[in-house]
Formats: sequence, C-alpha cells, structure tokens
Amino acid sequence: MTIRKKPEEFRSHRWFGVKDLRSFGHRSRTLQMGFSHEEFMGKPVIGIINTWSEVNPCHLHLRNRAEAVKRAVWANGGFPVEIPVMSVSEQYQKPTTMLYRNFLAMETEESIRSHPVDGVVLLGGCDKSTPALVMGACSAGLPFVFVPAGPMLRGNWAGKVLGSGADVWKYWAEKEAGNITEEQWQDMESGIARSYGTCMVMGTAATMMSHAEILGLTLPGASAIPAADAAHPRMAAMAGKRAVEMVFEDLTPNKILTRKSFENALVLHMAMAGSTNAIIHLVAMAGRAGVELSMADFDAYSRKVPVIANIRPSGEYLMEDFFYAGGLPALMKQLESLLHTDAMTISGQPLKATIDRAVVYNEEVIRPLSRPVSTANGLAVLTGNLAPGGCVIKPSAAEARLQKHTGPALAFETYEDMLKAVNDENLDVTPDHIMVLKNAGPVGGPGMPEWGMLPLPRKLLKQGVRDMLRISDARMSGTSYGACILHVAPEAYIKGPLAAVQTGDLISVDVEARSIHLHLSDEEITRRLRAWTPPERDYPRGFGKMYAEHTKQANEGCDFDFLEGTAKVKEPDIH
Ligand code: FES
Repeated sequence: MTIRKKPEEFRSHRWFGVKDLRSFGHRSRTLQMGFSHEEFMGKPVIGIINTWSEVNPCHLHLRNRAEAVKRAVWANGGFPVEIPVMSVSEQYQKPTTMLYRNFLAMETEESIRSHPVDGVVLLGGCDKSTPALVMGACSAGLPFVFVPAGPMLRGNWAGKVLGSGADVWKYWAEKEAGNITEEQWQDMESGIARSYGTCMVMGTAATMMSHAEILGLTLPGASAIPAADAAHPRMAAMAGKRAVEMVFEDLTPNKILTRKSFENALVLHMAMAGSTNAIIHLVAMAGRAGVELSMADFDAYSRKVPVIANIRPSGEYLMEDFFYAGGLPALMKQLESLLHTDAMTISGQPLKATIDRAVVYNEEVIRPLSRPVSTANGLAVLTGNLAPGGCVIKPSAAEARLQKHTGPALAFETYEDMLKAVNDENLDVTPDHIMVLKNAGPVGGPGMPEWGMLPLPRKLLKQGVRDMLRISDARMSGTSYGACILHVAPEAYIKGPLAAVQTGDLISVDVEARSIHLHLSDEEITRRLRAWTPPERDYPRGFGKMYAEHTKQANEGCDFDFLEGTAKVKEPDIH
C-alpha cells in the first residue's frame, strides 16, 4: 500500500482532529457511542452507504454485508460508520423507482458530503440503486468502492429453470392464452425467487452492476458473484479493506472515470445485450463525471459489437451460469481487442491486470467474438420525425419480422385506456397494428414508468401472436422483451411529435436503417400538437412536482438540471 496521506490531511480531521469547541462535541458524541479515542482518532473514516431494507428482497443481505465491510475496515486501520439511505426497491416502490433514482443520488451525495467521511463503500444493486449511488458518490468526489448486491440463485419450477421477469412475462402470456392453469401459475410463485439478491437475468440490475465493474468501480469479478455465495461476503470485506487504502492513496473517482472507461461500458453493453434502462443511467453517470455520451455513441457501438454473453432475455443462461463461466473478467477477456485496457480501476491497477488473470470456463455462456449469440444488435437507436431526439429498441429481443414494418397506429393517451382496450376481446386490432402509448415519459409519468412492454391484446394472444411493434416514451424492465420502441424523445407530455399520433396513422420502422417515421406532413404534426393538451398531472406538490419540473429528457439521462455536471460544491463549514 502506497501511503501518501497523513492523518491530519484526512477530511475527517476537521471534525475530530482539531482542538476547538465543535470538535469537542464530535469526539464526545463518538465516545457516547461506546468507541474509545484509539478506535477512531487519526483513522480514515469509511462511510458505508447502505440501501438495506425489509422492503427490498434484492438487498436483504446487505445488513450482513455491511458487517463484513466493517470487520475489514477495522482490521485495516479504518473507522467504519454505516449510513442508511433509501433502498429504491424495484418490486414494491410505486409508481416507479425511476422517480426515486435522483432522490437516492441526492441523498448519497449529501450524506457523504455533510458527514465526517474520508472514503466510502456503496452497497446496492437493485436496478436504480447502482446508478443512483454511483452518481451521488461521483459528485461527492471522495474515494469509493461499489459493492454490488449480486444476483439471486436461478429460479426453479417443475424441472424448468426460471429467470426473473422474463419468464414471468412469458408464462403470463401462456396463462392469458389458456395454456397454463391457475394452479401451475401459483406454483411458479414459490420457485422463481429462491434467495436474496437481484434479478438473475441480464436485466437492469445485472447490467448496471456489470457497468459499475467495467467502469472500474468494483473489485475485479465482483458484479456477478451470486448474493448467496460465500464469495460475496468475502468480496464485501475486501471492498472495506480497499476503501481504507484508497483514502491513503487519494484515489478519487475523477482519476478513474474518463471517456475511455465509458467507451468500455458501451462495448460491454452491446456484448451483453444490456437493459435499455442502462442507456439513460450511463448518460447520467457520465454527466456526473464530466463525460458526454450521446445516442449516436450508443448506436455506433451497437453496430460494431456483437452480443456474446448468452444470458436471458437475449440468450439462454442466467447470471449464476455467467459467474461459473468466469463472470465479467472472462467477458472482458473475450472483448479485449475492443476495450481500452489501460483504463484505471479502484484496485489501483488498469483493467488489463484483471483481463490477464481471467479465464473463460464455458464458451457456450461467454462466447468468443467469432461466434456471437445473435446476429441482431443488442441495441439500436432510431431517429425520425416521430423521435427527433431518438428512441431505442433491443433488436436481439424482438421478432425479426417486426424490424422492418409499416402499420397503422393504435394510439392511447394513458396507460389506463390501453389496459382497458387490450382486455377487450372485440378490439379492432391485427398483428400488423403498432401500439402507441403517450404520456409515460420523464415529465408525463412523471418518472418514466416501465410500461414500454405494452401487454399484447388478449384477442391476438389467443390467435398465437407473441410479439407486436409497440412505441412509447416509457421505459421497459430490463427483463422484458419484444419489439418495443422506448424512450421516444422528446416525450409526448412536452409536445413531442408522439403526442400527434392518432389511431389509424401509418408508422414505418426500419431498424437496419435506424429510422422511425410517422406518415404525416410537418404541417399536420404541428397543427395537431397545437390543438393537443396533455392530461392533468397527479403531483400538485412534493417530490413528484420537483421531479417533473427538473428532469431532463431520456436521451439526456433524466438527471435533474441542478444536479448534473461537475461544478464543485464547497466543503461544509464546521462552526
Ligand atoms: Fe431488484 Fe429486479 S427487483 S433487481
């Protein structure tokens, strides 16, 4: 360990080390908690930002993991303090956790800055918690290590391996079509989530934890360790040790996060056919690090990187299999020729050091570049008069016949209207229709709910139809699939062209040409938008109001206008 910082240079020295009235209070109150002077004086204080909660099954083990971090911080000469923050629980929190990503990012940043903390360990992993923690910690600017919550074990039901979300949607469609009994459906409930940990397909959680690793913010190999594996608490403990070392080394996030590290994340994203949600999060995280990522960047990488991680929903296997196949270091090894391997990591070494040690144990799960899982791209960014700011589709998870398609719109102003219609067995709809949902974007939601995988009309399900083109300004779960065009920007609620679409209008989509076109003249679109008024919003006050007033659009990362950027916030005065 290269020790450069001296104790009197620690940030926490201003709270504990000086001799004045205020520091008397800080020391006496630490003694009040039962710690002696020797235990905390002159030591780096490691804040453990913990998203543990009993309303988040994905994070149920994080209370124990915090103890593992603490044990290593103590053993390595630091002073650990646990700081609870909002859990952002994907399963329970309504109307959508995206509404709270920026809330947690703010809470993380302010919890770090306002307390006597020198270095940080972040505990989280359920969907929005990874980007939120990273965004906040980046803006706080202190050395930090991210401890991914890790995926849960594989699902198991009636001899079948089940994946979170993806199989729920699949079997729900079968149940709606009358192919699965109520009893079988209930049986599945107890087999699909077998341990604590995050969803175990390449959904948003696994995608974002993997991004945290390739960005250099976790210990090598950390992101795929199953939450219930004994390697997980060992990794958490090592993160505590490393956080102490990083304080001495002054290894701050601005020395790790660069344009190169985000370009590595783009390569990874395409290779693992990552969740579409991650596009928004990566743009926001990059913004906090002073790196600009555009929709064009995403599309450029999607054209040159094939999908090689054979993981559901685009592939066959689950995160547990991915871990046994070598995990993220092995995937990076397959991608080595496309990566900036000199990108720095929190280990103090470049990515190359991890890649050199990596072994691919199963080339069916982690394929070589020469044998991709699919020839379809993991992501495509479409633009046109319907989405001037861009929109996204995951071609690898959509039926090929829908990737070049012209059809009449079946347009809905609200989610409720759409739900009512799809359950109507007499709905005037064919497999060629394109379902359009408006007012589900960042401002209109607000918070851009995961409504983008619009349920297929029951009438078509019974005819055996399993995919249709669907367009919205919403997001969709990373575990979802289908020909869903998402994140249309600008959104309908702020009078983006999507608001002009009416049932019967023709829309053309060409994924190969990256185009989306509404067959109306510019004049007609403008005329309709002038006459259109958005539905009433539900937030006259409170956080939802603040969110709607300050969120940026999907292609800009949905950060708040007053949170984005790298302008330095002054250290708190200690009076
Ligand atoms: Fe937490 Fe999916 S619900 S990761």
